[in-house]
Formats: sequence, structure tokens, C-alpha cells
Amino acid sequence: MTFPPQFLDEVRARVPLEGVIGKRVRVVRRGREFIGLCPFHKEKTPSFTVNEEKGFFHCFGCGAHGDVIGFLMRDEGLPFPEAVERLAADAGLALPARDPQAAVREKERHSLFGVMEAAAAWFESELKGTRGAAARRYLDARAVDEATRAHFRLGFAPDSRNALRTALEKDGITEAMLLEAGLIVTPDDDRSPYDRFRGRVIFPICDRRGRVVAFGGRTLGERQPKYLNSPETPLFAKGSLLYGYHLAAGPARKANRVIAVEGYMDVIALHQAGIARAVAPLGTALTEQQLESMWRLAEEPVLCFDGDEAGARAAARAVERALSKLSAKRSLRFATLPAGQDPDTMVRDRGRQAMAEIVGAAIPFSDQLWKMASGGRSLDTPEARARAHKQLQDQVARIPDSDLGFRYMEEFRHRLRLPWQGRRQGGAPSPAMPESPVRRGEALGPGGQGTTQPRERALLQILLNFPALAMEQHEALAGLHLETPRFAAVVAALIDWAESGPEPESADLRAALAGKGLDGVVEELVGQSAHVLDRPASIDHARELFADALNRQHQRLEEQAARAEAEGAYIDEETWQQTRERILRLQETAKAETDLPDLGVAPRASGA
Ligand code: CTP
Ligand code: MN
Repeated sequence: MTFPPQFLDEVRARVPLEGVIGKRVRVVRRGREFIGLCPFHKEKTPSFTVNEEKGFFHCFGCGAHGDVIGFLMRDEGLPFPEAVERLAADAGLALPARDPQAAVREKERHSLFGVMEAAAAWFESELKGTRGAAARRYLDARAVDEATRAHFRLGFAPDSRNALRTALEKDGITEAMLLEAGLIVTPDDDRSPYDRFRGRVIFPICDRRGRVVAFGGRTLGERQPKYLNSPETPLFAKGSLLYGYHLAAGPARKANRVIAVEGYMDVIALHQAGIARAVAPLGTALTEQQLESMWRLAEEPVLCFDGDEAGARAAARAVERALSKLSAKRSLRFATLPAGQDPDTMVRDRGRQAMAEIVGAAIPFSDQLWKMASGGRSLDTPEARARAHKQLQDQVARIPDSDLGFRYMEEFRHRLRLPWQGRRQGGAPSPAMPESPVRRGEALGPGGQGTTQPRERALLQILLNFPALAMEQHEALAGLHLETPRFAAVVAALIDWAESGPEPESADLRAALAGKGLDGVVEELVGQSAHVLDRPASIDHARELFADALNRQHQRLEEQAARAEAEGAYIDEETWQQTRERILRLQETAKAETDLPDLGVAPRASGA
């Protein structure tokens, strides 16, 4: 019977250790402890101590050590449950009511392990028997040697409707258990259940302790599906296990290195080639749990992916899963195989060394992020750098370890600068970054809120369409910062005009702007005809649109300032942390934002 941990604590707390031990051994107080002759080995000078405070005994002579339950077990040779029951009775504690369901579950689990083990052993013997000849030839052809077959406990399921079932039922394993273990399948019609695995090479899948919990089965030929796996059972959740883990764990931990490959045969081929640190997911993309498992073995697991499009997608998925769990002690590396090869064919065709070189050349996580953001191209335009920067910053913002995130951005800022400076070599020396925060922000790209121009355009279109609004809002205009220089000039002119006490008419406004050489921009914004500027519409509505556009512009400036700050070469960590939070917040608000209506009313009369 299993006892709840609280109950055991209660027992330990209620029973004085010295009292129980004192009945058996003469102990005397010495400082904080009691000391006496050890009951567990022969001695003349006392080396047996009892520490009531800490609740344990310890013998410096023979090393015997334990709590009050352990003492009774040792002293009277009692099994754990009986020792607990005795102590509970002495202390007047009622035993906790048995949880019948828990007990049943426990038993069932144990018996399911037994069923899986029996099946694994039977599959193994079938591979060696007369029915296994074709499977042995298949494994020969794939160069899996005898020792490897035994190491991975490979087996064979003969092509028979009931062979496994018949064999296991002889051992007293019931149909219900076989069903629960996923070894037989109930057909839709009312015929009896039949063996799930038929005519397949069997790959036992083990849990971390090496107990068989599922099977993978591969056809000998081209029949589909190529691989068939056990269903999820009380013992088996495919997202939480890795194929080969129990065999790879030792070597991997020792070397602080583990390699994830795609398939069962890849794991087997690597182990056979002496690379015993390989594991594989079970036919799905790597899950977070599987990443966690690998991090228990090594700080930087190496993930191997095919050199093709699908491999790149799989790598990107792994990046997504890992980002929010990354730290300085938990990262990943990425190895890319030559197109058309998998680790199994690599070691067979080109040898262990070639495979080891590929794993050795695995790139760090940061390089993988960079590779994905740059798309493998050189970032030789501001636009390309801006896009890359945005993607990198958004990804890095998800790294919970803020110091690490800071280091990543430091690295990327450096790289983003290199091609630019490189291009200018020989020309006029240019500063590493434009000076003003807003200008710097522009270099960082449009940010989460779309591009600059449409927003600034919309703001000016409203004002040009409603001269009265421009007058009314001229103070707000003074605080408005536009990033497009020709648009900023229009704002300045609008303010001058509004403060000169003009007539609120478009002709008047247009003349004033033309007087400053801005007729070209005005035309760009609202077209040529003067009447466009008098477009009759509700000024209240325009005021709302203006307020909204102004708000967004301010938000954008704030975001850019934040980005510019992150861009600064020597910002400290605290600032980075604050900046990162601001960017995340702004990304949230930006998500909720819809695009501005296009107020470019000018239907350009052709030729007019
Ligand atoms: N897999 C699966 N079910 C399938 C196909 C594949 O569960 N129908 C899983 C298996 O774990 C397999 C892995 O995906 O090992 C990789 O499959 P694939 O690339 O198709 O095959 P290989 O591992 O190269 O298999 P083999 O070398 O035996 O052809
Ligand atoms: Mn393969």
C-alpha cells in the first residue's frame, strides 16, 4: 500500500526517534545528539548517533543511516508498510483510508509494464525464429548488426492475425490487457480483435528508465504506412518520450552532448557507429517536453535537420518551441545534413567521421536566428536590414532570460552594422548609426504598426481637407513630429499659416503653402483642384479621425524611441529590460489596430 506523504510526515513528527531507538540501544546525550553502541554492527566504542532535531540516526562506524521508519525496518527486518503501520499504531494514528482506485491504477500500470515486456520478448524471439528470416535479411540489408539488434531489442511481428495474442494469452495475459496495451485492435465488424503489428520489424520504445512502453513497427517493403506506432496508452504519451533516451542518457550526460535526429533507424545507425548520444522524437516535431528531456542531458543539444525545405521548416518550429525556454544554460545547436541524406545513410555511405563533422559544425542558436531572419541573403539595403532587425527583435523579446536577450541583441546589432559599414568603406566615413533617436528608429524598420508614410499622409490629408481644423489644432500640430521630411515641412507651414490669423479657406491655405514652395507636396497629398480642399464633410468626423491619427503617430514615435534605445551601443541591462517590456506592450496594442482610412481624395484628373 502507498501512503500519502503527509501521513508519513505525521508519523515521523509524532514518534520520538530517541524513544523508539532508546528501547533497543542504550544512548546518552552528548550535546545536541544522543550517542551509543551501534545495533547494526559490532563495536566497542560508540559511533552510533541519534539526532532528534533532524529526525535521523547515523552510524559513523558502519554508515547505517535513516529516519524512524528506516530504523524499524533495519532493526526488525520489517517491510516499509509494516514499519509504518507499527509506528502509526504506537502513536495512535489511524491509517489513512485506502484509495481503492489509486491501488487499482497502480496495479494495472504494473501489469501493463509486464504485458509490454512479455510482448517485447516475444517479438525478439520471433526475429530469431523461422518466421523471422525475411526480417533478418531486411536488417542485414540495412547493415544493422547482431549486437545492435540486441542492444535496441529489435524484433519481428509475423504476418499473422493472432500470433502475438495467442502466445501472450498462454501466459495468462487477457484480451482486455492486450487491448489496453494497444497490442490488439478491435475491428468495426464483430469479429474478434486482431494483432496490431503484422509483418513488421519491431522497434521497442522505452521510457526513461528503459521499460518498454510502446512499439514502432516498420514494413519490410514499400507497404504503407511505412511506420506504425502503438497508440497512446496509460504507459505511453508520444510527445513526452524520445526514442533511444535510456541508451543515450549515460553517454550524453557524460559528454554534455546529445543529438536529436529524425528517425528510429537514424538513432540506431548512429549508436552502431559509436555515436551513442543520439535520440529521436516519435514521428512528430520536437515537443517542449522532449526539449526539456534533452536539456537534462546537455546544455546545448544538437538538432539535426535535412538540408531541404522541410528541414528548414522543422528547424523553425524547434526555434519557436525553444525561444521561451532559452537561457545561458539551456540552448540548442543546429546541424544541417546534405540534401537527400539522413544520418543513417550518412554513416553508411560516408562513414562515422563525416557524420561527426556535420554534428561538430552545428551552428549556435543565435546563428540559426540570424540565418532565418536574413534568409541567407546579404542585408545590403536598409529595408532588408529593417525587416531582419524587426524579426530578430520580436524573437529575442520572447527569451525570458533578460541578460541573454540583451546579449543576443548586442550580437545582432553588431552584425546588422557590418555589411553597411563594409559597403561604405572607401567612401566618406559614416557614423555607425544615424544620430537622432527618431532617425535611428527609422533605421530599425517600420515596427509593429505598419509603414510611416500612410499614417503621416492621412494626417496631412485631413488637415488639408479641413483648413478650419488645422487652425483649431495648431497647438497640437506644434507637438507633432513627422518622420518624412517633406511632410514635416508641410506641418511647419501649416502652423505658420494657422498662427498668421488667416481666413479658414482652402484657397488661402493653398496659396500660403505654395508661397513656401510646397505646392508639389500638396499636390502629392490631395491632388490639384482647389475644390478638393473644400470637400464638404462633417468637421466633427474629421476631428475624430485627426485625433485618432495623432494618437497613433505618437504611439509609433514611442515605439521607435524604444527601438532606438535598444539599438544604442551601450545601454545597460535595466534599460534593455524596460525597453523590451515596452516593445512587447506596443506590439500588443499594434495588433489591435486597424489601418487608417485612405483620405487621399484626389481623383487626379488626367492632364489637368
Ligand atoms: N514515422 C512515423 N510514421 C510514418 C513515417 C515516419 O511514425 N508513417 C516516424 C518514424 O519515427 C520514423 C521517422 O518518422 O523513424 C522518420 O521517418 P522517415 O523520414 O519517413 O523515415 P526514416 O527514418 O528515414 O525511415 P527509414 O530509414 O526506415 O526509411
Ligand atoms: Mn532513413
